[in-house]
Amino acid sequence: MASCFGRMFSFYKICLQQARSCSTHASTSLPAYVKIVEVGPRDGLQNEKKFVPTETKVEFINKLSEAGLPVIEVTSFVSPKWVPQMADNSEVLQSIKRSKGITYTALTPNLKGFKDAVSCGVSEVAIFGAASETFSKKNINCSISESLQRFEEVMKAARELQMPVRGYVSCVLGCPYEKTVSPEKVAQVAKEMFEMGCYEISLGDTIGVGTPGAMKQLIAVVTKQIPIERVAVHCHDTYGQALANILAALQMGVTVVDSSTAGLGGCPYAKGASGNVATEDVLYMLDGLGIKTGVDLQKTVEAGRFISQALGRSTQSKVGQAMKSSL
Ligand code: HMG
Ligand code: MG
Repeated sequence: MASCFGRMFSFYKICLQQARSCSTHASTSLPAYVKIVEVGPRDGLQNEKKFVPTETKVEFINKLSEAGLPVIEVTSFVSPKWVPQMADNSEVLQSIKRSKGITYTALTPNLKGFKDAVSCGVSEVAIFGAASETFSKKNINCSISESLQRFEEVMKAARELQMPVRGYVSCVLGCPYEKTVSPEKVAQVAKEMFEMGCYEISLGDTIGVGTPGAMKQLIAVVTKQIPIERVAVHCHDTYGQALANILAALQMGVTVVDSSTAGLGGCPYAKGASGNVATEDVLYMLDGLGIKTGVDLQKTVEAGRFISQALGRSTQSKVGQAMKSSL
């Protein structure tokens, strides 16, 4: 077993050397460090039809912690009638092994969710809105402006506890219901969430329809309203554009990337949307560009293998597949 991993590691090192030598070291504008926000346990699993046992979720998260992912979105405190897969939110949060220096976060759509998350010892929360009215109604059962009012309540409660809050804006490059979404609308919602106190705004390409040009245009418009250091990208990979879109975002100065180990995921209210970009694939690309993440790729691949086996399917990560076949 040990020699298998040894051989796999050597193969990975050769691939990485090749990737590095092929990289143009393109521009000095690429960041030296990128923060990875691992959303696999939440975004990755929320859409699974069959209930994933709580122990499996906990073990998956513990493996992600061992890999050194700096932020792990553990679960969501949403209605179990809407998203039954996340019904064990409290047990999961209370059962994981917490590592020093890792932020364990959860989605909280309203004050009820926030209070429940706090009582389970969450270190940070995220509120989630959208730049599309129809998606907002389908996803959280209210209009964009109503959602912003609900978020204000969460922000007020979070401020009292000095708890950091992240904000998501969904449908930034397209909506499953309204199709086109203007960058100006995204920028307006992002600005409102930033001004109400979110320390970071994650731009969600919920249905993975974006292309690098659209991503660059979006970031150019959004950063007229909020500083680039506060922008994260959250790419689903439905059309296979996610890595290219992330690279485009990095070239624009973005330094925070959301991803999901094994490429798990999809949104229950965005039919046909596939998983998030795989964390393994992002790590491999960043490593090849000489960008530090502090995350262990090998251990992330192992976490991906663990959850894929538990779900009874093969990993969606190309890097995970390649490192497996090099065994
Ligand atoms: P609602 O039905 O409008 O809420 O749901 P309500 O206030 O009228 O309450 C109705 C019932 O829900 C009540 O229970 C409440 O107690 C309960 P009942 O009396 O009927 O038994 N309830 C809750 N239960 C648990 N936790 C709560 C909570 N709030 C109310 N926090 C709500 C509004 C937002 C709760 C609902 O629409 C919901 O849960 N939606 C699910 C949203 C979701 O999880 N979507 C997927 C995540 S977003 C995403 O994937 C996109 C992202 O990845 C970025 C991207 O890719 O773009 C982030
Ligand atoms: Mg998502």
